Amino acid sequence: MNNKNLSVDLQTWFHQFKRELPFRKNKDPYRIWISEVMLQQTRVNSMLDHYRAFLSEFPTLADLASGKEEKVLSLWKGLGYYNRAKNLHRGAKYIMENFNGLFPSDSKELQKVPGIGPYTSNAILSIAFSLPYAVLDGNVKRVLSRVFAFSGEIDNSSNEKILQGYADELLDTKFPGNHNEAIMELGASICRPKDPDCTICPISTYCIAFQKKRVGEFPKTKLPIEKIPLKFHFYLIFNESSEVLIYEDPEKRFFPKFKTPPFLISGENLSKSYTSLNHEMSELINHLPEAKEIYAGKHSITKHSIHLFFSIHKVKEKDIKKMLNIEFITLNSLPNRFPSSIVSKILKNPFLKSYNFKF
Ligand code: ADE
Repeated sequence: MNNKNLSVDLQTWFHQFKRELPFRKNKDPYRIWISEVMLQQTRVNSMLDHYRAFLSEFPTLADLASGKEEKVLSLWKGLGYYNRAKNLHRGAKYIMENFNGLFPSDSKELQKVPGIGPYTSNAILSIAFSLPYAVLDGNVKRVLSRVFAFSGEIDNSSNEKILQGYADELLDTKFPGNHNEAIMELGASICRPKDPDCTICPISTYCIAFQKKRVGEFPKTKLPIEKIPLKFHFYLIFNESSEVLIYEDPEKRFFPKFKTPPFLISGENLSKSYTSLNHEMSELINHLPEAKEIYAGKHSITKHSIHLFFSIHKVKEKDIKKMLNIEFITLNSLPNRFPSSIVSKILKNPFLKSYNFKF
């Protein structure tokens, strides 16, 4: 394959069709970092408002490093994967403290920054510093699987090295950032998962799958795994001031970095790692007055399909012995403290909305 010509044709197309986007205005690694982390979880059109608001609140790395985590999380609302927002904040502090506020241009050093893995590192190094690193995200993997008619599964981690090899092989080392953005954009717009538009594809002449009329066979992926069904029951425990109890169970498997209202996980044949209440909290829950169990809808976390339930309980704060790690907070602040769409599903439930919190 003539890789140089492939990249030239790809970049010519990109130059003609690329969108004017706020993170393409300059090569500031901070702005590129924020955009790439947001783009890992959503499409360009869905992240632009978040991006503008984030940059307006935190225009520089130093602003982000000295910002409040609550503010960072609230600007992330709606994007999901809140750990990424927490890591951005930690990462900004790390760069301020360890690299004097300057992004390192060495790949190993850059990947020491919390939240910066191979993808983000390659994106920043190529786009901001013009260094020859090829990015590999879901869109790029799909393009490569077609161009090379790759018979392996693209979502199997054991094929990562082969795919990175293909990506490296195509990279234009003179214009790595432009090449990377172009191949990602091609995957998002023309080389789509379903119905790719090969008739207007700038690299179809290089594409083995297209040349062999086998585009529909690629990418190969693993068979979908069956999701594990679970029930989460949240105990909303209110004090005399209508504040809700949240606590942190260091052992818990879900939401490891947030305080949450206590919740019980049940399901068939679950291993011990699914226990979600520590001993002290189990005792408290067992002594709560009976309350109605309300259904709040479905939720999905990685390989788990979850049915959400909750119940409402009132306790006098003095009746709860001083437990470590508990806190009472207003319902309004719950979405910021436990930023999961589980909270919005529960908060919009009519039973909770019309509940009389008075003692
Ligand atoms: N997807 C992720 N990052 C991108 C970028 N910089 N340009 C186009 N698509 C992308």
